[in-house]
Amino acid sequence: MSENPATPESAPATDAAGPVSPDAPEPGASPGTSPGNPAPVATGPSGTVPSDTDLSDTDLSGPARRTQPMFPDGTGPAADPAGSHHERRIRSFQPRRSRVSPSQADALRRMWAKWGLDIDGLSRIDLDAFFDGLPVVLEVGFGMGEATAQMAAADPDTGILACDVHTPGQGNLLALAERNGLTNIRVANGDAIILLREMLAPASLAGLRVFFPDPWPKKRHHKRRLIQPDFLSLVTTRLAPGALVHCATDWEPYAEQMLEVLSAEPTLQNLHSGYAPRPDFRPLTKFEGQGLDKGHTVHDLLFRRRPV
Ligand SMILES: C[S@@+](CC[C@H](N)C(=O)[O-])C[C@H]1O[C@@H](n2cnc3c(N)ncnc32)[C@H](O)[C@@H]1O
Repeated sequence: MSENPATPESAPATDAAGPVSPDAPEPGASPGTSPGNPAPVATGPSGTVPSDTDLSDTDLSGPARRTQPMFPDGTGPAADPAGSHHERRIRSFQPRRSRVSPSQADALRRMWAKWGLDIDGLSRIDLDAFFDGLPVVLEVGFGMGEATAQMAAADPDTGILACDVHTPGQGNLLALAERNGLTNIRVANGDAIILLREMLAPASLAGLRVFFPDPWPKKRHHKRRLIQPDFLSLVTTRLAPGALVHCATDWEPYAEQMLEVLSAEPTLQNLHSGYAPRPDFRPLTKFEGQGLDKGHTVHDLLFRRRPV
């Protein structure tokens, strides 16, 4: 382990989307609105129903943030959609100030109401209605979405619920979907843990994909890594029997952690002994390319949810 991967820690000035915009609003800020303005209702799929989730473990000690949509006319993804209801102290992502290009903004403005979902943690999603009956795989952390769009094109009979906090990537993925005539992608804005915990029904997912999650290489940041026992305990309750869990990373110590915690989760079964050979159905991702350029080895992990 001789060099840092491209991570929020090692590359603070740029990210997958390009240069940091110094004049972009703080996460949680509200472009075009004034303090005290009630938050407009976050846009969601037409099929949302009230959640029966017990919210009693919610940590309300965080700052009350506002959840305004991106555009003043009420369209677009909200800034920090669950901030005031579900403050999480340890996050697996780092809020990034990133410039949204005109074409990404255009896609967000036009398509968010139909294909976007703000993760506010307040309602349960009716995946059947949102995806017109397709089986649904959750992808956590799609970045700019190129690999997501390719997988959606290769398998139109599977819906992809693509989750990330990265606004330029959300716009990019919606634009890719439109350009390629893809109808099986929906974009979720916010923290995947809140999505899983509060908004997805038990056994509702046909799979989980986590490709090149932030490796958080510094020891004091390991707690931020997404693939942890608690995360898997939550995920597996949302997976249908037989659902595929597919992870990949170029960060060797994280690969070892993934193998350890995935193997220790009793409801999951490794489809290989140890790491999986690279499956040809996973396209090269942007972060994978960066890792390969640095000489990193990529590991895939494929596990299946055991029948109950
Ligand atoms: C290192 S990037 C990898 C992106 C892409 N999968 C690739 O391989 O190019 C990790 C992404 O995961 C997202 N992410 C991390 N934790 C997340 C969470 N809890 N919920 C949603 N997205 C998350 C980050 O915003 C970031 O875009």
